[in-house]
Amino acid sequence: QCIGSTTIARSSQQNSTRDKVSTMVEKQVSDVSDNGKVTVDEAIAPKRKLHLIGGIALIVGTMIGSGIFISPKGVLQASKSVGLSMIIWLGCGVISMLSSLAYIELGTLITMSGGEFSYLCEGLCPLLAYLYAWSSVIILRPASMAVICLTFAEYVAAICFDECGPPIIFVKCLAAAAIIFITAVNCYSVELAVRIQVFFTVAKIVALLIIIIGGFVYIGKGVLNDLPEGFQGSQTSPSVIALAFYDGLWAYDGWNNLNFAVEEIYDPYRNLPLAILIGIPLVTILYLLTNVSYLAVMSKVDLLAAATVGGTWANRVLGTAAIIIPISVAFSTFGAANGSCFTCSRLAYAAAREGHLPEVLAHLHVTKKTPILSLLVTSFISLCMIFPSNVSSLIDFFSFTAWFFYGCAFLSLIVMRFTKKNANRPFKVFILIPVVMLIISIYLVIAPIVKDPEIGLLYAFLITIGGLIFYFPFVYFKWYPPYMDEITSFFQLVFEVGPTKYESF
Ligand code: ARG
Repeated sequence: QCIGSTTIARSSQQNSTRDKVSTMVEKQVSDVSDNGKVTVDEAIAPKRKLHLIGGIALIVGTMIGSGIFISPKGVLQASKSVGLSMIIWLGCGVISMLSSLAYIELGTLITMSGGEFSYLCEGLCPLLAYLYAWSSVIILRPASMAVICLTFAEYVAAICFDECGPPIIFVKCLAAAAIIFITAVNCYSVELAVRIQVFFTVAKIVALLIIIIGGFVYIGKGVLNDLPEGFQGSQTSPSVIALAFYDGLWAYDGWNNLNFAVEEIYDPYRNLPLAILIGIPLVTILYLLTNVSYLAVMSKVDLLAAATVGGTWANRVLGTAAIIIPISVAFSTFGAANGSCFTCSRLAYAAAREGHLPEVLAHLHVTKKTPILSLLVTSFISLCMIFPSNVSSLIDFFSFTAWFFYGCAFLSLIVMRFTKKNANRPFKVFILIPVVMLIISIYLVIAPIVKDPEIGLLYAFLITIGGLIFYFPFVYFKWYPPYMDEITSFFQLVFEVGPTKYESF
């Protein structure tokens, strides 16, 4: 059995380090066990601080980021008609909903943080889980955080500078400052990070409501632009349609976010399903209505020519108040970055606890219970990704690899129906749902390769496979490099962190 075993094996090698931390924990933590002797494992476990609202905010607040203000252009460009583009936006919502239904079963069957990592580890094989953790923690999630923060910085800079625009270095430094601020908040307190997430989620919902109401005022006045055109001139090539789906799915990405923090959800059997069942339909409805509003206010030609769809919409409808939209996008992306930072660190934490990443990443701060080191490492990688110029191209790579691993998670659900027949499943989805989602994932992975076998996809594949270099010595053969205990102990003392234990729900 993969889960738990490594933690115990490693712990026994680390008695000396543990003693030091036990003393530290004893000094700082009041809830010591009856016999007065603190075992570190008992003392440090994540606290369940995510209630329903926080859970919804973690889903909705990461899904709504920059995508809805930018992607409509890409979707329309690829689909070529108003009708098909609306169908694609709806289709992306349905895909996210069906996927999340499967993830409700996964998240309540395996009540561990780490999302796909834990499901692949339990349902398929540890190697696949490792490759997922490796590619996500080293590249995918930091890259998506970097892209979101760069978008945030571009919008904030656009508010502060005139038409000539800000110097690029200003934008990059602002993005870096956002990452540092978000990391600091997440290290400081889980509650504060959740509160920030809730605040920004409310702000972005209000922003989308403004866009929706503005559009309907236009429709009320009889302005419909190309809306009545329907399906005229629709794209018919399935592989180009897959690309349109990629654009839309980026805007919906984040639907699985809560599954990364299951150990921190209060009453996960209730709150995980509820947050998903409320969050995803809410985002789908908001996205669809926002698109209707864009298409009512702008013609197809205008929309395709717009630098940012949201910006052009605002200039038309809000006039002098158009500034509201860049501010909203800045809020929206900031919140999404906060959510991404929160969940990425939980993934690193869960993978490290199983011995798939360096052990200190699985340590929590003794009193704040935040995974400080995994936060610092993932944010540091994001910081490094801010400065090269072509981070956005990583988004395509992101979708390709992400859908490969989502597909594996659906497969693991199907496999576990056989291998864990009698396990406690508070929620059991109709088996066709993961089967259909598995087929859709295969299509989303294969279509771009067939259509346009870009070199970036090969890089994506090579980087993922490259993780094997570390897998065999460190994870499979459990080779323990010299001075590792000393290094771990150093980090423990400096950051006041200690090893953790998985507490089943
Ligand atoms: N949907 C978000 C947006 O439109 C991007 C989410 C990136 N994914 C993630 N897991 N952080 O900007």
